[in-house]
Amino acid sequence: MSDSNGLDLKSDVTRQKPFYLETGNEVGLFEAAYDGKLPVMLKGPTGCGKTRFVEYMAYRLHRPLITVACHEDLFASDLIGRFLLKNDETIWNDGPLTRAVRIGAICYLDEIVEARKDTTVVIHPLSDDRRILVIEKNGEIIPAHPDFTLVISYNPGYQSVLKDLKQSTRQRFISFEFKYPAPEKEAEIVAHEGKVDMETARRLVTLAGKIRNIREHGLTEGASTRLLIYAAQLIRRNIDPVSACRSAVCLPLTDDNRLQETMNDLIQDLF
Ligand SMILES: Nc1ncnc2c1ncn2[C@@H]1O[C@H](COP(=O)(O)OP(=O)(O)OP(=O)(O)O)[C@@H](O)[C@H]1O
Ligand SMILES: [Mg+2]
Repeated sequence: MSDSNGLDLKSDVTRQKPFYLETGNEVGLFEAAYDGKLPVMLKGPTGCGKTRFVEYMAYRLHRPLITVACHEDLFASDLIGRFLLKNDETIWNDGPLTRAVRIGAICYLDEIVEARKDTTVVIHPLSDDRRILVIEKNGEIIPAHPDFTLVISYNPGYQSVLKDLKQSTRQRFISFEFKYPAPEKEAEIVAHEGKVDMETARRLVTLAGKIRNIREHGLTEGASTRLLIYAAQLIRRNIDPVSACRSAVCLPLTDDNRLQETMNDLIQDLF
């Protein structure tokens, strides 16, 4: 779903239970953070389960989830809201963050470092013990609903120094480090999500392990759990495993011919 600002927005209390396999102690930790009204930062590479985890926690805690995919043209007003002209009247329109603050949703700001710097001004009073949202445009100060929880994600891998999160922002959040799940857990996830047998899933995970080990030689990030699931989905549809891995894992990861060859060798060895 997307709102009138084109924001990626999900707010749904009647959803199905998302499949999530705990990889450490993140579920208990999140529940403690929620209980203590502490904002949460999820750090980790792409495709390792951050979004799925937030969806699962929202379901578990019976909270609506409002997700905003941050990007370089995202202003504070996109989060807070704006006045809109309707039949010659100006009417205030809540943005996704304001809505979440009012109704006590979990607000997930995905890739927060991408957003414009003015967004931090908005987030700071919400993510310390004041827990207030200040709407300068209409002079409103909204105390956050007791169940409101702010979650931000960021991938330390891609960030340039310029885009690094400021200490004053970082130090307002408790942080969870997401990594690729341990092999047996990751295989279980791939088997479940890709609907393949455990043997195939284990092979895909072994391949990922090997690719993650060649990371130092030019890959900025290893093969994600998401890509393994893609490969599994192709295999399940009778694409031979070598082509499936090439299309779902090798080619998305790199344009470098030498690295592709190395990966192809690994794929041939395993399948
Ligand atoms: N622990 C897990 N339990 C269940 N599914 C998982 C788990 N980890 C990863 N997945 C699967 O991997 C896929 C990718 O995960 P997800 O979309 O949550 O990644 P992400 O960390 O949010 O990535 P990005 O930073 O690119 O947004 C999910 O669709 C889900 O199928
Ligand atoms: Mg995500």
